[in-house]
Amino acid sequence: MKENGLQKVKFYSGTDIPVELHKVRIVQKLHLKPVEERLVAIEKGGYNTFLLNTKDIFLDMLTDSGTNAMSDNQLSSMMQADDAYAGSQSFYRMEAAIQEVFGKQYLLPVHQGRAAENIISQVFIKKGDIIPMNYHFTTTKAHMELNGGKVLEIFTDEALKIKSNHPFKGNIDVNKLNDLIAEYGADRIPFIRFEASTNLIGGQPYSMENMKEVKAIADSHGITIVLDASLIGENAWFIKQREEAYKQSSIKDILNEMCDMADIVYFSSRKVSSTRGGGICTSNYDLFLKMRDLVPLFEGFLTYGGMSVREIEAMAVGFYETTDETIISQSPAFVEYAVNELDKLGVPVITPAGALGCHVDAMGFLPHVPQEEYPAGALAAALYIVSGCRGMERGTISSERDEDGNDILADMELLRLAFPRRVFTLSQTMFMIDRVKWLYDNRDLVGGLRFKEEPPVLRFFMGRLEPVSDWPQKLADKFNADFGGSL
Ligand code: F0G
Repeated sequence: MKENGLQKVKFYSGTDIPVELHKVRIVQKLHLKPVEERLVAIEKGGYNTFLLNTKDIFLDMLTDSGTNAMSDNQLSSMMQADDAYAGSQSFYRMEAAIQEVFGKQYLLPVHQGRAAENIISQVFIKKGDIIPMNYHFTTTKAHMELNGGKVLEIFTDEALKIKSNHPFKGNIDVNKLNDLIAEYGADRIPFIRFEASTNLIGGQPYSMENMKEVKAIADSHGITIVLDASLIGENAWFIKQREEAYKQSSIKDILNEMCDMADIVYFSSRKVSSTRGGGICTSNYDLFLKMRDLVPLFEGFLTYGGMSVREIEAMAVGFYETTDETIISQSPAFVEYAVNELDKLGVPVITPAGALGCHVDAMGFLPHVPQEEYPAGALAAALYIVSGCRGMERGTISSERDEDGNDILADMELLRLAFPRRVFTLSQTMFMIDRVKWLYDNRDLVGGLRFKEEPPVLRFFMGRLEPVSDWPQKLADKFNADFGGSL
């Protein structure tokens, strides 16, 4: 076995594939429909994969949010849930888990990650503030802007390179941070935000060394650090794999050290602990008090925060499991397999492989589709048509318009194919890779999209689009010609 007894078992035959270190005990039937039905479904869904019904989907690679497989221990813990409006023992078990795994004293429960962002933004951000960060997440930015703040991304030059072998493309550029502090002054910076396994730029981690450098600068100016820990397990895993000084450390020690450098840690439990819900934690009682009173106002009483007590029990177990290498490395191992295979086939994908999913570079895939016609959205729709696999657009559709109504073109146009933990098998992964390759070989058939119905905020969720020509039908026809009626 590879070091630390992980997913990658060494094969005698030389094959290099990830091996599942779990067995499947509860299963759910999937639906692989004919291409004609998928064509109807995507049309009905406004060429937006968020608007598909899972009855029409084969592999749901939209996200890992709320879709990771739960463990037997998580499921059985739900049976001991303590129903109480206030003072539930389930909450205190979760608080104990957070204290142990994140090393933070106080916990504010919320119904999901963006609810934490709402509270943090309302409490700490005032009009005219700037918030430096490695990269934004969609809901993060929306809440910060709603409260008058401006997001300033200070990533390194490596961050947006599609092909790279840099191990930590999620790092903050410390020179840019120093420049920002000199330009705006520490008073206009309510906090610096670190996002673990930077979601929108390909699930790329930051290094402990980088966090230490940022922390030293923040301390010298009295600036708070806020850590979005939604994908912290994977980031910790990458630190252990890629940062020399941490090769012998336990994941728990790495998690503790990461969280110790942040004054506030918040998370989406839909990701980090394979449940639903979220939370904000801190060891600073003053910061805790500043946020506390918004929890009953927006979420629910302080010992449930809008979550069911059953979920809270499973969350506690999920946090302990975040320290288990075989669990947190499962998704990265499959992502790595998919990325390396697609790369070998010449398909443009973000390298090195990161957390959460395999990210296909839509501008490299569809160079003939202008960014104004949303290549990542078009690629997501096209892949669904030819495979039944649902990915997520992470590009200009997920961005917004400026004051003049023009699209703000995204830094990257990505099709994200998520690998929720312990959900897909290797043969399903190989099926996805096969269909992506077929689509790549037939990429000239894919055209662009335009909006038909466009909500003003977070338009990627509910927006409806249409193809700029009849390319979806032509693509389906070619698929049928090549596959002869097969699914
Ligand atoms: N922060 C990060 C880094 C996230 O990835 C997410 C959600 C959130 C905050 C918000 O959490 O959904 O519980 O409100 N990411 C999901 C995704 C939606 O598909 O990547 P939430």
